[in-house]
Amino acid sequence: MGIVKQNFGKIPDGTPVDLYTLANTQGLTVKITNYGATVVSLEVPDRDGNPGDVTLGYDSLEDYISGPCYFGCIAGRYANRIGGGRFRLNDTEYILAQNDGQNHLHGGIQGFDKAVWQAREIENDDGLGLNLSYLSRDGEEGYPGNLSVTVVYTATDKNELRIEFNAAADKPTIVNLTHHSYFNLAGAGAGDTLGHELMINADRFTPVDRTLIPTGELKSVKGTPLDFTRPTVIGARLDSGDEQLQIAGGYDHNWVLNKDAAGPCLAARAFERDSGRTLEVYTTQPGLQFYSGNFMENQIAAKAGQIYNHRGGFCLETQHFPDSPNRPEFPSTVLDPGSTYEHTTIYKFATE
Ligand code: GLA
Repeated sequence: MGIVKQNFGKIPDGTPVDLYTLANTQGLTVKITNYGATVVSLEVPDRDGNPGDVTLGYDSLEDYISGPCYFGCIAGRYANRIGGGRFRLNDTEYILAQNDGQNHLHGGIQGFDKAVWQAREIENDDGLGLNLSYLSRDGEEGYPGNLSVTVVYTATDKNELRIEFNAAADKPTIVNLTHHSYFNLAGAGAGDTLGHELMINADRFTPVDRTLIPTGELKSVKGTPLDFTRPTVIGARLDSGDEQLQIAGGYDHNWVLNKDAAGPCLAARAFERDSGRTLEVYTTQPGLQFYSGNFMENQIAAKAGQIYNHRGGFCLETQHFPDSPNRPEFPSTVLDPGSTYEHTTIYKFATE
């Protein structure tokens, strides 16, 4: 079984973009484009063995270029928010785009989700993979230093989509990469995801201000609707009147992951009763942004004639904490020359 490569169109400057299909031996098929290093679809079996596409996306490159949702992409150079669109590093202040109110979001106007990455097909012991690399130039979107980034997606024979992130810089800079798939384990387009059960392996979260920037506190989830330490239905507490949920219009927060090992640790587990599908997320990252699709509009025309409505998918974005460059007390997102940024995140599918 090889990798199939198809033309996926051209961006406005004429650069061609491709779509790669990787299948494993267990019924997992993932389609990835080198535009934004984006997962376009991901099929996995339900409990009866029927395949279903569980990630949200579009059919055409044009929709990825104009769409506001960041479906399936790699967000960077700094995924999530930086307060006020500015940060200081070694006594220099850097000014970034304010593309989310006054804040910087997902790398700015032309983030990594809008870049055309170099793709190389690979095959290793545990499956077929796609090696995607991108050179983000010194000054791009206001960030210091040339940053060379590699993201390797592997469709493993354990029904995992494994993502290995790597980056190195020639000047001190900041980096925070995440994968931004929206999941619906009942199948993309099959209504909202409020009935999924979710467990997040975190005792604390980072509360946010009215603009979704962390206040700096690491707050216990106990007694709050952000407590997912036991599997809980996503929609169960959305209308609880909790201030944090009201600010974000649902869940759009960073959880401080409990870590019990040096390698990838279990961060979250989702379960959808009708299909029987489960999704486990493992990561080496310190944080997880669980986003319940609050900004999704109704009636988004998507792939294969699907229509997505508000909260038609949810994201489990493994990453460093939002606004870390302005929060010296958070795990550092600074990358110095000579060091490498290295992270692994695994999305593992099964049924029960
Ligand atoms: C992340 C953010 C959300 C939103 C989505 C994209 O999950 O935390 O607030 O910006 O990306 O729509």
